[in-house]
Amino acid sequence: MYVCICQAITERQIERAVDAGIDSVEGLRDTLGVASCCGSCATTAEEIVAERKASRALPSPKIYRPATQPV
Ligand code: FES
Repeated sequence: MYVCICQAITERQIERAVDAGIDSVEGLRDTLGVASCCGSCATTAEEIVAERKASRALPSPKIYRPATQPV
């Protein structure tokens, strides 16, 4: 899905940028040009950044390890 129509930037490109360490709309503006023209994409871009950062912050799943059997 295109998020920034002016610069033809997709949601996937923003997610990749967040994965690479960009953590703000300002950072997206500097690297991809998001919100650098009309600015109407800024709110959506900010939501995508927040969602991506939150999903990366989730704890890893617990691994079930059965108790060892006494020999
Ligand atoms: S839609 Fe992103 S700057 Fe216009």
